Amino acid sequence: MFITKFTQKLEEYVQKNPLLYKIMLAYYKPLVKCEIRLAGIECTDKVLCVGGGSCPITAILFRKYTGADITVIDNNPYCVKNAKKFLNKKGIDGIDVVCCEGIKTCCNNYSVVHLAMQVSPMEETLKKLMKDAKTNARFLVRTPKRIFTKLYKAKVDCNKAINSTRHTLFANVGYTMLFRNIK
Ligand SMILES: C[S@@+](CC[C@H](N)C(=O)[O-])C[C@H]1O[C@@H](n2cnc3c(N)ncnc32)[C@H](O)[C@@H]1O
Repeated sequence: MFITKFTQKLEEYVQKNPLLYKIMLAYYKPLVKCEIRLAGIECTDKVLCVGGGSCPITAILFRKYTGADITVIDNNPYCVKNAKKFLNKKGIDGIDVVCCEGIKTCCNNYSVVHLAMQVSPMEETLKKLMKDAKTNARFLVRTPKRIFTKLYKAKVDCNKAINSTRHTLFANVGYTMLFRNIK
């Protein structure tokens, strides 16, 4: 996907440029705060972030605001290597980064699973992870604003969501949907 390559490249620059990193943090902060409230994430949660990129800002903010243990996965080894280096350089602990395909991840250890907007294939990955996850695990899925839908392949059956949060005008994310694994 063009947008995935674009974001990956952008995140490489963000890693190297403190000002860009500050801007990215400011962009992600309100988004992530809404998602923490939506899923009620606490320090006792174990959070899996699917699709962290080179600069896993969502994971960094989840950790910062909740203290929860975080695992980030990405299917791009280059991004994984970069992300590990970045977290190390920043002295951020409590975040594990693993190279793995979303759909092949074992997620029965996590109470919260977050899927980035570029995760592809989104619907199949969500279905498979929800099937394997423990009962009552919460799933947060970002969906693009309507004007950006053509850039993303994400197709999610939002009717099954139990709640959602709408993001600000300035974000490319329209809503984050909350699903709960009720078996
Ligand atoms: C660029 S990031 C955006 C996330 C952003 N850094 C954040 O903190 O929210 C999106 C990443 O998702 C990864 N990705 C896409 N599909 C995936 C999948 N099926 N499994 C694992 N990672 C995936 C891409 O490799 C890409 O690096």
